[in-house]
Amino acid sequence: MKTRRVVLSDDQFAQLRTLLARSAGLVFDESRRDSVAYCIAERLRVTGAPDVASYLGLLVDPAERQQLLNEVTIQETHFFRNPPQIRALRKYVIPELLKHADNHGRRIRIWSAGCSTGEEPYTIAMLLRELLPTTAGWDVKVIATDVSSRALEAARRGHYGERAVQMASPEDLVRFFTSTPTATGDRYEVRPEVRELVEFRHQNLVTDPVPFAADERIDLVLCRNVTIYFSRDTTRGLMARLHACLRDGGYLFLGHSETLWQVSEDFRLVPLGTGDSAAFVYRRIDEEPKDRRGTVLPDRRTEDEGPPQPKPERRHNSRRDRTSVPAAKPVAPASAVAVRAALADGRYDDAVTAAGDLVTAEPLNPMGHYLRGLALVNAGKDDDALVDLRKAVYLDPSSGLGHFLLAGALHRLGDPGAAAREYGAAANTLGARTEERTAPELGGRSVQELAAMCRQLEAQLSGADS
Ligand SMILES: C[S@@+](CC[C@H](N)C(=O)[O-])C[C@H]1O[C@@H](n2cnc3c(N)ncnc32)[C@H](O)[C@@H]1O
Repeated sequence: MKTRRVVLSDDQFAQLRTLLARSAGLVFDESRRDSVAYCIAERLRVTGAPDVASYLGLLVDPAERQQLLNEVTIQETHFFRNPPQIRALRKYVIPELLKHADNHGRRIRIWSAGCSTGEEPYTIAMLLRELLPTTAGWDVKVIATDVSSRALEAARRGHYGERAVQMASPEDLVRFFTSTPTATGDRYEVRPEVRELVEFRHQNLVTDPVPFAADERIDLVLCRNVTIYFSRDTTRGLMARLHACLRDGGYLFLGHSETLWQVSEDFRLVPLGTGDSAAFVYRRIDEEPKDRRGTVLPDRRTEDEGPPQPKPERRHNSRRDRTSVPAAKPVAPASAVAVRAALADGRYDDAVTAAGDLVTAEPLNPMGHYLRGLALVNAGKDDDALVDLRKAVYLDPSSGLGHFLLAGALHRLGDPGAAAREYGAAANTLGARTEERTAPELGGRSVQELAAMCRQLEAQLSGADS
């Protein structure tokens, strides 16, 4: 039978909204009325209910409520989603978890909360396998939960199409999947050594208890692209539960568009990496470390010397001497493009040189100073970058990204007070902007999200400085 078109009356839509909010915290505003109607039409087709009123009667049965949740939840996901976060996991977070676990019974617990069809927890298991090829003598588990029983079925099957693996590198594809050609394209199956690290469980993040014993503590929770469908109050309650089950120093990863700004002050926002490869993640930090004068330090390292503020790698062939920049010559119109191209390729010294050309040709143009500051930050030369970034924001006080980069450099150089002021200026200038920016420095984040993060970092660092 074909799915017919259904129109929901105001009363029917209101009943469904209340039910979905109560049963899974899901908020459906007026703009999503048609998509709810579409889902109801599909359930009418499957159940054979003659109309919406009869179907609403079927929802007293928990099994039908589950089917409706399967229908309305959005399962969009893929392997290696959010490259800055994947880099941060690979480079900083998982190595630190392994080090911590090595001193604490070799036990690691990771929770993929709202795991959808499994791509996220399997990605984490792949990163674990990469960094810990054999788990003999270790107790490592990725617990993956979702409210959708249909998504969990697909996750347990572990078979995927080409779209799901489009962000996986060719090496990852060979190492972690077996592929089979089919009439509709290649099918990718997750290898057993990855699957055995992941345990799928049905769990409702809003109405069920967390899937761990009361005394169990979790190292890392990924709750990405889940709370975008929740009200702020629901998210607040969930974040309190996530905080309670994380260990001291444990990490929380949210999605690109999710922030704890005005939701929770329990976590510390931590930038991992710099420039366009930076990921902003949250940590549970129970105690503030003090220096000998009793001042709260800006960044807390775990007892394992975890890397909350890593410095970018220094290149062996770095040339610190910016006097090597050629003497004044006409600016090629493509110079800014050349700087960005060099940055994208990881040729940081070339980027510094190209940006130097811009500065030499137009010393009062803030863009040249900004780009050279950006290149120097990427090259790991924060101290040199300060000069250019200060000039950039002096020449253009509305340069939100300039304030943002300057704040990061000051922060890493151990000046939390000045960094807080710059994060504040970044939040003010970025927050006032309405246009969509695609600068790679945003690492895939929206301007407004970056503004919210800057505000939170300002608040954190102001506290650290007082
Ligand atoms: C867009 S997917 C995100 C998948 C993955 N975390 C990612 O970022 O790629 C959102 C998932 O959250 C799940 N979800 C929504 N409400 C939930 C709830 N109350 N409890 C558990 N999972 C929920 C949905 O079923 C869906 O699979």
